[in-house]
Amino acid sequence: MPANPCKNIFSWDINNWKVSFLCIERNARKTGVFKQHMIIQNDFTKLLNLRYPIVMAPLFLVSNEAMVIEAIEAGILGCFPSLNYRSPGELDDVLKRLNKLLEERAGKQGTYGMNLIVQRANPWFEKHLEICISNKVPVVITSLGSPKSTIDAVHTYGGKVFCDVTNLEHARKCQEAGCDGFVAVGQGAGGHAGPYPLIILTEALKQEFPGTPVLAAGGIAHGRAMLSVLASGASAAYCGTRFIASTEASVSQEYKDAVVNYRMDDIVLTERISGTPCSVINTEFAKKIGTKQNWFERILSKNPRTKKYFKMLIQRRGFNWLEGAVKPGSYESLWCAGQSVEMIHDIKPVKEIVNQMVSEFEKAFAELEKTIIR
Ligand SMILES: Cc1cc2nc3c(=O)[nH]c(=O)nc-3n(C[C@H](O)[C@H](O)[C@H](O)COP(=O)(O)O)c2cc1C
Repeated sequence: MPANPCKNIFSWDINNWKVSFLCIERNARKTGVFKQHMIIQNDFTKLLNLRYPIVMAPLFLVSNEAMVIEAIEAGILGCFPSLNYRSPGELDDVLKRLNKLLEERAGKQGTYGMNLIVQRANPWFEKHLEICISNKVPVVITSLGSPKSTIDAVHTYGGKVFCDVTNLEHARKCQEAGCDGFVAVGQGAGGHAGPYPLIILTEALKQEFPGTPVLAAGGIAHGRAMLSVLASGASAAYCGTRFIASTEASVSQEYKDAVVNYRMDDIVLTERISGTPCSVINTEFAKKIGTKQNWFERILSKNPRTKKYFKMLIQRRGFNWLEGAVKPGSYESLWCAGQSVEMIHDIKPVKEIVNQMVSEFEKAFAELEKTIIR
C-alpha cells in the first residue's frame, strides 16, 4: 500500500473491516485547505489494493474505457463487459492501455476487472478469454454459465475470479470450481436480477462460505445502502445502475435522463431480450415487446437440440434492440436499469459518484454510531 499522505489517523475495526478517518494533509497548513480523506479497509480491498470497497459493475453497452479509468483513479474496482469491445483488436488495445495505466500508477489504489459471459451461447467467449489471459487481466467477473475453465485459466497468471450468483446451488458450483469470491445478485438489480432479497442472499452465502468474499449487487446507489451491505457481511458494494447516470457513460442523454426520472415502480423484468429475466424501464417500447416469451419460443428454448442456437438467436435480437436504444434520438427506448433508479437524482462524473457515496456512507456510519449507548 502506498505511503499515507496524512499525519493523523483515527481508525477502528468493526467486523473485520476498518474505517479510518485521516485528517489534515501535510501541506494543508500551507494552503489553508483542510481536506479529509478516508480509507475503508477489509480483506477484499487489501486483496485488490483498493481505497474503498466499491465496484463499478460491468454494464453492457454502457461501460467504457473512460469510466474504468475514472474508477481506477477513484481507488475502486472499475469493471466493463468484454462484449462492449467486439471489433477485431479493440479489446486487446483497451486492455493494453489499462495495464499501462496500472503500471504508471505503480501500486496506487484502484484496479480494473473484465466481465466474461461464460455461457456456451456467447460466440465471443473463447476469443475474449484468450485475450484476457494474454493481457493478464487482474480481475475477471463471470456470469451466466460454468466458470470452471475461466477460473483455471485466470489463476495460471495470478488473476482473481469473482462469479455472479443468484442462489446457493450455483454458488456451490463456483466454489467447487475454485472462485475467489461471489457477486451476490439480489432482487431489484439491474440486468439479470436474482430472486432473493440481497440481505438474505448475502447472509446465506456468508453462512455457507464464511471465508469467501461476497460482493453485494442490487439496489445500491447511496452510501447508506453501501453501509447496510457491508454491515450484513458483504465485502463490497457492487453498483451498476448508478453509473449509467455518469457523465462518462457512452449512452444517449435520453437514457441517462430516464435513469434519473423514472422510479422503482417503472422497472419490469422481461425475458424477451436474452431468454433470462432482465430488468428494463417500462417504456412504451418495453410494453410493446412484452415480458414473456411466447409458447413457441419457450419450446425452442427448452429443447436440448435447439436450446443453444435459439438462445443465440434471441440474444442477437435483444442485442440489436438494446444497441439501437442507447443511441441518441432512438425511438425504440429499451433501457436496461435496476430499481435503484429510485435513488438516482443526478448525472455526474464517476469520481463524484464515488466520493458522494463515500461521504454518505461516512455520514450514515456516524449517525448509527450515535445510537449506541455504552
Ligand atoms: C445497463 C446494464 C447492463 C448490464 N450489463 C451486464 C453485463 O454485461 N454483464 C454482467 O455481468 N452484468 C451486467 N449487468 C449487471 C451489473 O453488472 C450489476 O450486477 C447490477 O447492475 C447491480 O445492480 P444495480 O444495477 O441495482 O446496481 C448490467 C446491468 C445494467 C443496469
